[in-house]
Amino acid sequence: MTARRVQGHLVVSAGPTREYVDPVRFLSNVSSGRMGFEIAAAAARSGRRVTLVAGPVALATPPGVERVDVVSAREMLTALRRAFAGADALVMAAAVADWRPVRRLAGKWRAKDGGRSATELALVRNPDILATLARRKGRRTVVGFALETGAGLRRARAKLERKNADYIVLNDDSALNQGSATVTILAKDGTVERHERRAKREIARRIVRLLASHVDSRA
Ligand code: CTP
Repeated sequence: MTARRVQGHLVVSAGPTREYVDPVRFLSNVSSGRMGFEIAAAAARSGRRVTLVAGPVALATPPGVERVDVVSAREMLTALRRAFAGADALVMAAAVADWRPVRRLAGKWRAKDGGRSATELALVRNPDILATLARRKGRRTVVGFALETGAGLRRARAKLERKNADYIVLNDDSALNQGSATVTILAKDGTVERHERRAKREIARRIVRLLASHVDSRA
């Protein structure tokens, strides 16, 4: 039996991150991780080596995919930095929490402390993983995601420039936790393609094909 040709090494991030306040509470978001898992699955099916860095999600690892589980944004950055060092493309499908609590309390945050009726939680900015890794991407391909509610295209294009990505996949918020999505894929060269209410599996295949053509076009 002949082994399938491995066309490069793709790193994919997926799912939310969790930023703990105390041992039992955290800040997070409703991301299911489905889009990232579909991309990892599609890439593995096409014969690529795939490392999937996943936040806390309830999804099975796709066949042939190496999975690294993480919890917080800072853990995700560390895992992605390591994986991306030896890879040739990164797809940042994770919904990274922008903020984390300044302190993680060692014991439970008790409501009765001080008997107050209102309180505040001090937050600090998490690293922008996509921008951090794309800054020194060299010839590697980087794909970011954007979730926008209005004035989407203009903001997504600005995000592509600001974060030094090769592509941005613009989602509207109907994609959250659904099997299908409407996405617009913006490329650095100005190309724009729109996919209306398509299965995430199909969108994933399109992204994987784009990555292959992007790498090939520079060979
Ligand atoms: N992202 C990241 N690290 C963060 C926040 C976001 O790597 N701390 C990545 C996401 O994985 C996604 C892209 O950046 O690929 C866009 O994220 P989004 O939250 O839409 O953009 P922001 O830069 O946070 O901008 P804004 O909140 O103003 O829309």
